[in-house]
Amino acid sequence: MSVLIRGGRVITATDDYAADVFVDNGVVTQIGNSLDVRADRVIDARERYVMPGAIDPHTHMDMPFGGTVTCDDFTSGTVSAAFGGSTTLIDFCMQSPGQTLPDALATWHQKLERAKPVIDVGFHLAVTDLQKGGNLEDLARVPEQGVTSYKLFMAYKGSIMVDDETLFKVMEVAARTGALVLVHAENGDAIEVLIREALAAGHTEPIWHARTRPPELEGEATNRAIQLARVAGAPLYVVHVSCRDALEPIARARAAGWRVTGETCTQYLFIDESFLEKPDFEGAKYVYTPPPRPKEHQEVLWRGLATDVLSVVSTDHCAFKWQGQKTIGWDDFSKIPNGGPGIEDRLNMLHHFGVRTGRLSLNRLVQLVSTNPARTFGLYPRKGTIAIGSDADIVVFNPERKLTLSAASHHSNVDYNLYEGTEVQGAPETVLVRGQLIIEDRQLVADPGAGRFVRRARVPQ
Ligand code: URP
Ligand code: ZN
Ligand code: ZN
Repeated sequence: MSVLIRGGRVITATDDYAADVFVDNGVVTQIGNSLDVRADRVIDARERYVMPGAIDPHTHMDMPFGGTVTCDDFTSGTVSAAFGGSTTLIDFCMQSPGQTLPDALATWHQKLERAKPVIDVGFHLAVTDLQKGGNLEDLARVPEQGVTSYKLFMAYKGSIMVDDETLFKVMEVAARTGALVLVHAENGDAIEVLIREALAAGHTEPIWHARTRPPELEGEATNRAIQLARVAGAPLYVVHVSCRDALEPIARARAAGWRVTGETCTQYLFIDESFLEKPDFEGAKYVYTPPPRPKEHQEVLWRGLATDVLSVVSTDHCAFKWQGQKTIGWDDFSKIPNGGPGIEDRLNMLHHFGVRTGRLSLNRLVQLVSTNPARTFGLYPRKGTIAIGSDADIVVFNPERKLTLSAASHHSNVDYNLYEGTEVQGAPETVLVRGQLIIEDRQLVADPGAGRFVRRARVPQ
C-alpha cells in the first residue's frame, strides 16, 4: 500500500520544514514539496506536525509482579501506546527465578504472538538469577536474537533484585557482546531495612512507600552502577531517574566522557510525593518505584532533559488496576504492586507542558521520545526519524486538538489515569506503523497483528 501525507510540517530531531511524505511498501520513499504521485491513501496533514513515531523503551506488559500480573497485555498495551503516538515499544522480558534465559525469551515471544500487537515491539532481557536458571553462556548468546540489552534490578530484595556480583558479571558479558546494561538503581538492602522498621512502627499507608525509599538510596546505587560499569568496560543506561541525587552522578559521568545515559519518565516530571497522601487509599495509584519525589526534584529533571544529562523520556508503563490489584496492599504499603500507567499520555503531556511552555523545542521533543531511544537501543535509522529508506512509522500530530485526560480517555485496561482531569492541547491524530494505518483521526483502524517483533542492533562501541 502507498500513502501520501500531504501538506504537513515535518519535525525530526534536527529539522523542521513543510513537505509531503510519500510512503510505499512500508518505508518512506519520497519527501518533497507538492509531490506529484498517485497513492492508495492520501492523508491531509495541513496544520499538523508530521513526526517520527515515538519509541517507548520502558514498558511492562503482561508481567507477573508483586503477586499479580500487569493489567495490559501486548494487545491493550500496544493499542494504548498507538493512541499516544508510539509506534514501537521495548518491553522487559523478565526471567522468572530458576528459569533459563532462552525459556524466558520464549515465554515473552509467546505472550507477544498471542496478543497480536498493533505496533512494533522489541525486548530487553531482565536477568534476575544466574545461580539456578541463568548462566553466562546463554547470556552471551542473547544479542544474536536481536535482544541487545540486559536489565538488572538493584532493588526489590527477595524477588528480582540481584547482588553486585551478578550485576558486575553481567556487565562484563555486556562489554564482550556489545549489549547495553540497564539498571534500576536503588539500594535494595537498605530499603528492605527501612520497610521492616516502618511496618514494625505501625506505618502502613501508601506514603510510606516514598518514606522508605529516599532519594539518597537512588543516588548511591546510581553511582555504584556507574563505577561498576566503568570497571567492567560496559555501557550503562540508568532507567527511571527520579531525583537530583541520581542525576548528579550521571552528569559527572557524562562530563567525563563515560558511556552512561539516563532516562526519566513522564510521571516524575508531574507527580510529586504529596500524591501518595491522597485519602481513602487513592495514594496507592502513585505507588511506583522509584517513588514520586518532593516537587523540587522536578525542576532538576527538566534541566537534565534540556542539558542532555537525561536523553530519553519513557513511561515505565506498569499498569495495575486500583480496584483489586493496588488494593492488595490496603493494610500494608509494601504489598501494593509497584507500578503506574502512562503509556498513552507521554507525548501529549510533554508537548503541552514542555513545548507549549517553551521548556522543550519540538526538535528536542522528537529527540527525547523517538530519535534518542532509537539510537540508544539499536533501531536507528530504521526508526526514530523521517528519512528516505526509514520505516514509515509516522505520527500526524494536531497541536490544537484538546484532550481531557481521564481513565475514560485512554485505551489501557487500567481503571485510573495518573493525570486525571488534566487538560492538554495537542494530540496524535493519525498513526502509521511501517506504512500501515493504525490510528486514523483518533479511531483505531489497525488490523490485529499489524505490529511485529523488532530485532535490534548492538550498541555502537
Ligand atoms: O514501579 C515500577 N517501576 N514497577 C515496574 C518495575 C520497575 O521497577 O521498573
Ligand atoms: Zn525499575
Ligand atoms: Zn520499569
